[in-house]
Amino acid sequence: MKIFVTGGAGFIGSHIVDYLIGRGDDVVIYDNFCTGQEIFIKHHFDNQRFTLIKDDVLNFNALKKAMKDSDFVFHIAGHADVRGGYTDHDIDLKQNFMATQNVLEAMHQLNIKNIAFSSTSSVYGDAILHPTPESYPFEPTSLYGAAKANSENYIYTYAHYYDWNAYIFRFVSWIGERYTHGCIFDFMKKLKADSSHLYMLSDGTPKKSSLYVKDGVNAIFTIIEKSSEKINIYNLGHEEVTTIKNIADIVCDELGLKKVQYTFEGGDKGWMGDNKFVHLSIDKLKQLGWEPTVNIEEGIRRTVRYLKESSFLLNAR
Ligand SMILES: NC(=O)c1ccc[n+]([C@@H]2O[C@H](COP(=O)([O-])OP(=O)(O)OC[C@H]3O[C@@H](n4cnc5c(N)ncnc54)[C@H](O)[C@@H]3O)[C@@H](O)[C@H]2O)c1
Repeated sequence: MKIFVTGGAGFIGSHIVDYLIGRGDDVVIYDNFCTGQEIFIKHHFDNQRFTLIKDDVLNFNALKKAMKDSDFVFHIAGHADVRGGYTDHDIDLKQNFMATQNVLEAMHQLNIKNIAFSSTSSVYGDAILHPTPESYPFEPTSLYGAAKANSENYIYTYAHYYDWNAYIFRFVSWIGERYTHGCIFDFMKKLKADSSHLYMLSDGTPKKSSLYVKDGVNAIFTIIEKSSEKINIYNLGHEEVTTIKNIADIVCDELGLKKVQYTFEGGDKGWMGDNKFVHLSIDKLKQLGWEPTVNIEEGIRRTVRYLKESSFLLNAR
């Protein structure tokens, strides 16, 4: 198989690429490196089956040229900062929605019929049903969630028009090696500047679920190998949830910081568009035989250890 991976130099995309190269596929990464890191993929540079194209998904002609002869597209590139859309109303429209439509149109023009897409728990917004099942309606509270929901609808329609196989993954927050954004990252950046004090955007009570990256990649390929719908929509998450304050406690403990003073700067949400309780049902995924192997606390500890060893990343974003 020749697999095309947009965003293959990013946190999640680079782990997908490792898996694909490991199973013997030809892989083309298409990435503009706006947040991607060469260090995440450079161990493949000498591999004959690996191709890297540095360009933008919004550059349709370059995208279509690069995608030619691919069998399967992983569309993982995106603007992954949920917060940004409140102050920049165009960024999710362009980087998450229009970018996805470019990918779909290029696939159609090249007659490629398989797509996997990185969607998000943010499509459910402030869901009132927990754990939230896949059947819950789209109620996004951020333009990020809205753009991902619109992208899902476009994927659904292209797949329906042209008889494609589509895999739509609604992720909770991923943690683990190569993690470069999110609250653990923010906490470590702040603690690097001042290890005695930690300012939090919320009151510490928002409850979130997280998924360790290797369990996440395993879930993706379990779904692709075992799910047999034409359009396969799955939550990827964890049975556990934890509060933002508890995440901060684990980060401080793993860093060996004993007396950090917390200042809570907000209410039960960290920012406009944030969701105070994110817990997705993973019953559908578990029916395929998948289980997470790493609990959330251990995942947070591994993330902290990774960022300690790769502290240059704390300055990269
Ligand atoms: N990390 C999470 O917890 C999480 C949760 C839910 C959904 N997602 C989604 O998963 C995907 C990957 O997230 P991530 O955490 O790996 O983020 P990331 O920022 O590490 O990776 C995104 C990659 O896409 C590339 N990219 C971005 N815009 C591009 C463009 N216009 N053209 C070409 N390349 C472009 C970046 O350079 C980067 O390599 C995103 O679509 C994100 O919305 C992530």
